[in-house]
Amino acid sequence: MRYAYSNELIRRRNSCTKFRCILSGRKLSWYAKIYVNLHPQFFLFKSLKMFEEEIQRRRTFAIISHPDAGKTTLTEKMLLFGGAIHVAGAVKSNKIRKTATSDWMEIEKQRGISVATSVMGFEYNGFKINILDTPGHQDFAEDTFRTLTAVDSVIIVVDSAKGVEVQTRKLMQVCRMRKIPVMIFLNKMDREGKNTFDLLDELEKELQIAVCPLSFPIGMGQTFKGVYNIFEKNLTLYSPNKQTISESIKFEDINSPELENQIGLQATQLRKDLELVEGVYDEFRLEDYLSATVAPVFFGSALNNFGIRELLDCFLHIAPCPLPIEAVERKVVPVEEDFSGFVFKIHANMDPNHRSSIAFVKICSGKFERNSHYLHVRLGKQLKFSSPTAFMAQKKETVDEAFAGDIVGLPDTGNFKIGDTLTKGENLHFKGLPSFSPEMFKYIENADPMKSKQLNKGIEQLMGEGVAQLFTHQNNGRKIIGTVGQLQFEVIEYRLLHEYGAQCHWEGLSLYKACWIECSNEVELENFKRRKFQYMAKDIHNRDVFLAESAYVMQMAQSDFKEIIFHFNSDF
Ligand code: G4P
Repeated sequence: MRYAYSNELIRRRNSCTKFRCILSGRKLSWYAKIYVNLHPQFFLFKSLKMFEEEIQRRRTFAIISHPDAGKTTLTEKMLLFGGAIHVAGAVKSNKIRKTATSDWMEIEKQRGISVATSVMGFEYNGFKINILDTPGHQDFAEDTFRTLTAVDSVIIVVDSAKGVEVQTRKLMQVCRMRKIPVMIFLNKMDREGKNTFDLLDELEKELQIAVCPLSFPIGMGQTFKGVYNIFEKNLTLYSPNKQTISESIKFEDINSPELENQIGLQATQLRKDLELVEGVYDEFRLEDYLSATVAPVFFGSALNNFGIRELLDCFLHIAPCPLPIEAVERKVVPVEEDFSGFVFKIHANMDPNHRSSIAFVKICSGKFERNSHYLHVRLGKQLKFSSPTAFMAQKKETVDEAFAGDIVGLPDTGNFKIGDTLTKGENLHFKGLPSFSPEMFKYIENADPMKSKQLNKGIEQLMGEGVAQLFTHQNNGRKIIGTVGQLQFEVIEYRLLHEYGAQCHWEGLSLYKACWIECSNEVELENFKRRKFQYMAKDIHNRDVFLAESAYVMQMAQSDFKEIIFHFNSDF
């Protein structure tokens, strides 16, 4: 086990007069040193406890939704609660407007905004909350998928009038795959929407997860009166005022005539609804939520500041603190003393004069300290970071230390790729930064023969950043770029030109899917690769990928080679 704090701390205390406090990272005052010398065990126990508490009070999560469901509004209202911002409208939606999908300047502007809102950290009720933002535009869905590898839980926002939309379904697929606990917020209850029970059915069916309503709405749209909080047994009445936060009324006995006084004739309907909820849905069990088999559901209106506090309070109460993370070598536990973390996102600097970028590192264990040396496992190199940034509210500021669960931004000049691991010295590789089969494919060609070196370097670095996926065709050696949408091709072309001085042109390639293949039968696998040679490619990790031209071709391949397993994501 790696919880060898005590011995290590005693060793340090005895050998070093400049003993550093495990929590603050600052040198201890002479007074504190005397205290430590007199009470070493007490100090060790106390600092160990405080170190663990520091980690356990962290909640790192993402809010995800289909564009326009209200993710930005909900995020902003949460920041208002935490006092991290003081005026509504401070959080800019980082979605790229639908009308501007091919306007590069618009993308650039949006990228500037999204670095500031990539991680929003704030303190609330003794918790350190880290909300990870995800791009709204579906062409950057891959970025969102990767962000989900760095969170411990997720809040899904669904528009109650539109129900489950396509992007939500896709994102939920990733949450299911990674067993991330999810909570659902049914938003826009101030508008006419679908019948509540129909919505709950739709959530279960479309998101393929059992739901458990922890609150229940009283009417909707014109007749929306508020919500009954089943979890806390209280009633919160709705007033369509965006500035005030409504107080809840404790309501243990739903059959009390007082309910009529509060919500009039809608009391009868609420009683019937709650009876039905009790009959249809199992009682909430924390372990079901934590094991990602049940999603608690809340109702409200983000725009009107309604239902947010209930959601946030319940969330903080039940959401997991930083969880152990699987590395190839072993499971890494957050409260281990030694720092470890991985890069899940790289944000390029758009200034062509400085090709620096920010690598976002999720801290998986221990404490990260400024100016300490850490091992970059892939490069086998020790690196020191003098200006790591943390994200508090919407400000990016240099930090001296950060704990497991936090995200730090490390200035990078080309050292990092998505998935890279940093540790105190151990050879660790974190698993599961999945790539998904792209939706669009194009051959990339050099348009300036004098710049082929620059082009290759540019392609390599952009792919390392996770801008898109690169496949190399086995048959002709040509490079294929796979993306989720057209916008990514434009981003690549622009950045190759402005950051690397390289020009490219595209040649369309009609493919249905690129899928990773697996087979326990070596002979069958070799046979398949030989027979399908003209459809085989390698990804950047040199894994075999089958390029299927159509669903029919896939079907045929599967029926001819029954033992081959086709994967639509690389995380198998
Ligand atoms: P997104 O980040 O998920 O894409 O959604 P966003 O928060 O930007 O919200 C999309 C639209 O829905 C916004 O309106 C927002 O005001 C509205 N909205 C969010 N929550 C609620 C709600 O509870 N009730 C109602 N009625 N509307 C809500 P917009 O007109 O597109 O933008 P704006 O001009 O209001 O900023």
